[in-house]
Amino acid sequence: MLTTIIYRSHIGKNTSEPEVEKFIEKANQRNANAEVTGILLFDGEHFLQLLEGPEDNVEKIYRIICDDNRHFSLTELLRDYSVERHFGNAGMELFDLRNYDKSAVLDAVLERATSKFKLTYDDRTLQFLKTFIECDNKDSYLELTESETWQFESYLQPSLAAECPEDEPYTFGFQPIIDPSSRKVLSYEAKMRAPDGQSPLKFFASLQRDEIYQVDLASKRTALCMAKALQLQDSTLVLRLLPMTLVKNPDAVTFLLESINENGFVPQQIVISISEDSVVNEDEAFTAEVMKLKRSGIRLAIDNFGAGMAGLLLLTRVQPEVVMIDGDMLRDVHKNGPKQAINQSIIKICSSLEIQVVASGITQAEEWSWLRLAGVKAFQGNLFADVIPRKLPAIQWPVKS
Ligand SMILES: Cc1cc2nc3c(=O)[nH]c(=O)nc-3n(C[C@H](O)[C@H](O)[C@H](O)COP(=O)(O)O)c2cc1C
Repeated sequence: MLTTIIYRSHIGKNTSEPEVEKFIEKANQRNANAEVTGILLFDGEHFLQLLEGPEDNVEKIYRIICDDNRHFSLTELLRDYSVERHFGNAGMELFDLRNYDKSAVLDAVLERATSKFKLTYDDRTLQFLKTFIECDNKDSYLELTESETWQFESYLQPSLAAECPEDEPYTFGFQPIIDPSSRKVLSYEAKMRAPDGQSPLKFFASLQRDEIYQVDLASKRTALCMAKALQLQDSTLVLRLLPMTLVKNPDAVTFLLESINENGFVPQQIVISISEDSVVNEDEAFTAEVMKLKRSGIRLAIDNFGAGMAGLLLLTRVQPEVVMIDGDMLRDVHKNGPKQAINQSIIKICSSLEIQVVASGITQAEEWSWLRLAGVKAFQGNLFADVIPRKLPAIQWPVKS
């Protein structure tokens, strides 16, 4: 199957232009042997390369290119199938944009094209080339610096341990949401775990449908009680709730307020987080319950944002204070163009609506670094702190090395 990959990268500090010319010949040969064709645009600072050919061959060559330290901040922009090659003549032609007059450069590149699409800009692949050539979006290039490396300095939190008030078949771990730049803990999210620290899914699977919502609600009292035992009364607490728990338990808000009060918290300290993937947009009863929560002073977070069905419309209906972007949407964001574009849009929308963005599920320093450049301040994930049942985890603060 004919596959196209387009990526953008930044030339390395120690990569000389003669060196580029040198590897081109070899690369050209290797591509030709693998039936891979394309073009490599260079503007003196950035590369934009289009590779096309049989899927496995393109992938193999692309992997080698990704590991090449003669360039950095490699961002994949497009990965798609096509019926014909756009640049079918050369294995890999280097095209130096600086050798052409600005008004003629695009035509000069398209001269090399072999597909009928060269007559039209409707084709996405050619649009990427056009945008790169015309430098339309250079300010959206958020690039990590070439030699940026981080170490993580561990800070151990007080080793209090909180027991579950009753003999519950589940427990909670409190995972911090932090601002690594100012070294501040912004809040703690209570995450339910089986007593052995594993996911509580098996326990939930053993419950009847409506029982799930009762247990979900009752468990918030347990979480608050454990938060009290861990001396978190001065912190903001994030508590997850299934959306249907609010609908199926008409007294849910009253129950939550009582539990908050009896453990020495106030509603303004509590953020109820609802997962986007389980919200049904048209559910009037859910919206009404959310409004009750908000009227009581409790704040609302939409969790797993970007992974669900409710999507952007939900932001107009329930107006949350916090949006927690789904970990899958953030995985490898530093090298994935489509994820970068979507996350930048989410961040912009949230900024316009004064909604705080939390990047959750962060596992790599590069993900955090890129998101920080994109304007995110609040982070959560195993890179910084694990979920440890009944205890506050050690926090790993990043230090530039
Ligand atoms: C911007 C850029 C584009 C490259 N494009 C190709 C390519 O299309 N095909 C290829 O075989 N190597 C390409 N390379 C070189 C590979 O990354 C890799 O270094 C080279 O193939 C390794 O060859 P060698 O180990 O046999 O010397 C490119 C390198 C850079 C920096």
